Amino acid sequence: MQFLEIFSIINPLSFLKNSFRKKPLSLLLEEMKSEHRLNRVLGPVALTSLGVGAIIGTGIFVLIGVAAHDKAGPAVTLSFAVAGLACIFAALCYAEFASMVPVAGSAYTYAYATLGELFAWIIGWDLILEYGVASATVAHGWSKYFQDFIGIFGLGVPKLFSTAPLDFDPTTGTMSLTGAWLDLPAVVIALCVTMVLVKGIRESARFNATMVIIKVAVVLLVIGLGAMYVNPANWKPFAPFGYSGLSIFGHTILGQAGSGGAPVGVLAGAAMIFFAYIGFDSISTHAEEARNPQRDIPLAIISSLVICTVLYIAVATVITGMVPYSQITIDAPVSNAFSQVGIGWAHLIIAVGAITGITSVLLVMMLSQPRIFLAMARDGLLPKSFFGDIHPTFRTPWKSTILTGLFVALLGALLPLRLLAELVNIGTLFAFVVVCAAVLIMRIKHPEAERPFRAPFVPFVPLAGILTCLMLMFSLPAENWIRLLVWLVIGFIIYFFYGRKHSVLNNPHHIT
Ligand code: ALA
Repeated sequence: MQFLEIFSIINPLSFLKNSFRKKPLSLLLEEMKSEHRLNRVLGPVALTSLGVGAIIGTGIFVLIGVAAHDKAGPAVTLSFAVAGLACIFAALCYAEFASMVPVAGSAYTYAYATLGELFAWIIGWDLILEYGVASATVAHGWSKYFQDFIGIFGLGVPKLFSTAPLDFDPTTGTMSLTGAWLDLPAVVIALCVTMVLVKGIRESARFNATMVIIKVAVVLLVIGLGAMYVNPANWKPFAPFGYSGLSIFGHTILGQAGSGGAPVGVLAGAAMIFFAYIGFDSISTHAEEARNPQRDIPLAIISSLVICTVLYIAVATVITGMVPYSQITIDAPVSNAFSQVGIGWAHLIIAVGAITGITSVLLVMMLSQPRIFLAMARDGLLPKSFFGDIHPTFRTPWKSTILTGLFVALLGALLPLRLLAELVNIGTLFAFVVVCAAVLIMRIKHPEAERPFRAPFVPFVPLAGILTCLMLMFSLPAENWIRLLVWLVIGFIIYFFYGRKHSVLNNPHHIT
């Protein structure tokens, strides 16, 4: 390495200057006209169903149980409303940005245009937590429901292949061996979904639409049938753990602390079930495949979120009305509530709904991750020959789709995913905070830019988005902040040694 090169690495002034260089809006719009782009085949219905596909899954079928039982009681309904509200503020900001810059990178691209390269890289790196690690978590959940489903017919997966070899107990913070080798169903589903994704966006969207119809039908059945078995006495007391539940780095500052010191109450419940809402933002990663992105992406983001918020609040109201909150089970709360009121036949239908629901979450999340990589590779922050390679026939980012599939299969097969699930929440909330901030910055710096969709009541909406998302971040157990920090530091090191030097903004002739 030459002396000058070493000096430029350790020269803090040049490092700061490079790290905060921004990608001009005009350049982003120019790039969209290039030939090396994805296929524009998605209309408003396909985009909305991708959103619903990514949203309804493990959160409503599984996490509602722990949230009601341990965190909020029947007031889990309010937890869903609070988390939904935080997401609606963020969704309006996503919608404004997606209409302004309809390219594949989502929050990563928005940060690049407003906060600078280092921040953009950090957000891109953070989104791996949202899409990559969430997919592994969801693949693990899929395996559990699949085993529950085949169990109805007396079948089972051999114990050695039924779960990950390691487990993690969040209350004691210890790891233990499960005696199994790997979670084979999680591997199989991750690889099957990868094959569909490599084949093409149109096939993926069709497959997704079928699954969305099935899962929404099952959710409507849960609401309609469950409503007939509601006993209003079960809603009393409504908020046995209180209405708050806020902690800062592990110190409860509002509300009660539950066993193990973690906060309980409506807000703590909201931080936990926030996972159920993750996914609406993934629509913005498909901006480049939308036929009319400026109109349809904002529409799809907002409509899919509103549909799911209404369904979630209805499911939470019904389930907590069917069974006393203390008797809601943690593993399969929805189907179990039906067994408890004597309609056990619903078990099979709900299991089918959960499996299809979770499959579509996996499909959309694993579809989104390679598109973030693609945007980062086009900017030179990741190797373009690999992450930016579009398949000549299928027009999909096939190499990074396969890499994502292998990553999800590996994590889903081996790791104790309870350790990672909360990390997904904090990582996503962090991205939402950045997008809300980026909308504010853009309004101040570029008030003249064309905005086909404008978030209403600015600055109230972005500020409320920042505050509600921060509040949920603080309501999560403290270790998540440390894990998030470790993850971001690893990302920073990679940027320092690779992205900073290879960034296309260093060498604009390579822009495609
Ligand atoms: N929202 C998605 C789910 O609940 C991640 O599975």
